[in-house]
Amino acid sequence: MMNHPDDHLSKDDLCLIGKKVLLIPYEREFVPLYHSWMQDKTLQQQTATEPLSLEEEYENQLSWRLDPHKYTFLIVYLVHPSQPQCIVGDVNLFLLPRNDDTDEECEEKEKDMQAEVEVMIASRRHRRLGLATEAVQLMMAFARQYLGLNTFIAKIGSDNVASIGLFQRLGFQIFRRVDVFSEVHMRKTWTTPPVSSSFFLQVASWKRDWSIPCLSLLDDIPTKN
Ligand SMILES: CC(C)(COP(=O)(O)OP(=O)(O)OC[C@H]1O[C@@H](n2cnc3c(N)ncnc32)[C@H](O)[C@@H]1OP(=O)(O)O)[C@@H](O)C(=O)NCCC(=O)NCCS
Repeated sequence: MMNHPDDHLSKDDLCLIGKKVLLIPYEREFVPLYHSWMQDKTLQQQTATEPLSLEEEYENQLSWRLDPHKYTFLIVYLVHPSQPQCIVGDVNLFLLPRNDDTDEECEEKEKDMQAEVEVMIASRRHRRLGLATEAVQLMMAFARQYLGLNTFIAKIGSDNVASIGLFQRLGFQIFRRVDVFSEVHMRKTWTTPPVSSSFFLQVASWKRDWSIPCLSLLDDIPTKN
């Protein structure tokens, strides 16, 4: 699926490097952390997910890993080189089948390649630092440059003011309201080619190029200094 110019990079050990965040693959070792986040009822409601057992979460992680249409990353906050880096949330890209999930008026060319984006900053003390913004920007920059995608969709609970505000600031617009699920669907389409040199995205092999010295969990991590 991934048509990458660097042969050594595969979907499975890809990491995306920004200024504030590093996106690392959602590996099996991180399932207990992810599972602990998803015990939170508010997060379940905001992300429209059902609570799963740890066992089911391991199964999910494996199926996402094996699915060539899914790119699932954890968001590492690059606090400061001298401080422990912390995992604060996740960001996902789901490649949608051709012609799926577009409205009828949509131009034919826009129906070709698109993906759904999801993001969560589970650690509340790390919200409003621009981390979700950068994580989604990195994801889209990667998808544009390496996967040839230009259209991105976000499906958001109608009352999720934070997420709607986030995607609006990223240039998404509501194109559909799904009242039966209390959802709005937002979309952003680029009509110009990506300019790789002007963006801060770097791609690297996570296993080869990066090691994270200390992965702090939710509540014992340092906040922004
Ligand atoms: C939505 C969410 C991902 C935003 O993450 P974040 O890192 O705090 O977002 P950012 O700091 O990048 O914010 C970017 C912009 O989004 C908007 N925004 C973010 N949080 C907001 C809030 N609580 N209320 C209103 N607008 C908000 C603002 O316009 C903000 O820009 P500003 O801080 O300069 O005003 C985070 O609140 C979250 O994870 N919520 C729970 C899970 C969830 O709802 N995920 C989305 C499912 S569709």
